[in-house]
Amino acid sequence: MMRILLLGPPGSGKGTQATALRARWGLLHLSSGDLLRAYVREGTELGRQAKPFMEGGELVPDALIIEMMAERMSRGDAAAGYVLDGFPRTVAQAEALDRRLAELGQELDAVVSLDVPEGEILRRLSGRLTCPKCNAIYQVDTMPPAKPGICDRCGSELVQRLDEDPEVIKKRLAVYDAQTAPLLDYYRGTGRLYEVDGTIGVENVMHEISRILESARGGPGEPDT
Ligand code: AP5
Repeated sequence: MMRILLLGPPGSGKGTQATALRARWGLLHLSSGDLLRAYVREGTELGRQAKPFMEGGELVPDALIIEMMAERMSRGDAAAGYVLDGFPRTVAQAEALDRRLAELGQELDAVVSLDVPEGEILRRLSGRLTCPKCNAIYQVDTMPPAKPGICDRCGSELVQRLDEDPEVIKKRLAVYDAQTAPLLDYYRGTGRLYEVDGTIGVENVMHEISRILESARGGPGEPDT
């Protein structure tokens, strides 16, 4: 059983790698962004409250996110381990997660940070397509679907996310620097932070993460200090 957290700016490949980890390690993918987008689509009260923050590239308030993720992580399918993608994103969220894990007598096995420069992020996100049904992720230039505009996995029509306007992407990057990047120091202090170059291609990044997980499974490994 493994519990992994993927950190990194918007477009760094967290969702792509979480999907690959699910296929390779059988890990449940818990994405706060995918959960929120599903609540927005369903028109729930949480979705209604979250939508303006998401469309503006701001973070949804901590209290809403912490409650949403606590509920999701308490479901039976999370008992066998998971990969967290997009949560925690603030120090307050990380502290809430630590408290929850401590109550359960659990801890994270590894925190993997994907490092990608801003220019590459802007290039990637300008051509990203996602599947609203199964959350598969594509890139029109580098990872296109076999049939244009159609999801290889489930056959649904692919969409561009509402937060992919260039101005909103810049806002999301600024929010990441101000509110989420401090988590790198937070997790460095735990001795479980591993920093990975996220520009080396999906397969190579996956290979690096798998190497880290093998080492974390066998003991503390060699985290970045
Ligand atoms: P969320 O959905 O979490 O978005 P994000 O963190 O901004 O990240 P993205 O999903 O945009 O990118 P990614 O890192 O997953 O990259 P991907 O794999 O798609 O959050 C959205 C919003 O929800 C937030 O702005 C906020 O409002 C709210 N929210 C969510 N969680 C919250 C929280 N905890 N607290 C408060 N608010 C919260 O890859 C990107 C592209 O690059 C793809 O096209 C892919 O094909 C391509 N690609 C991936 N890897 C590679 C590679 N190695 N080489 C080349 N291309 C690659």
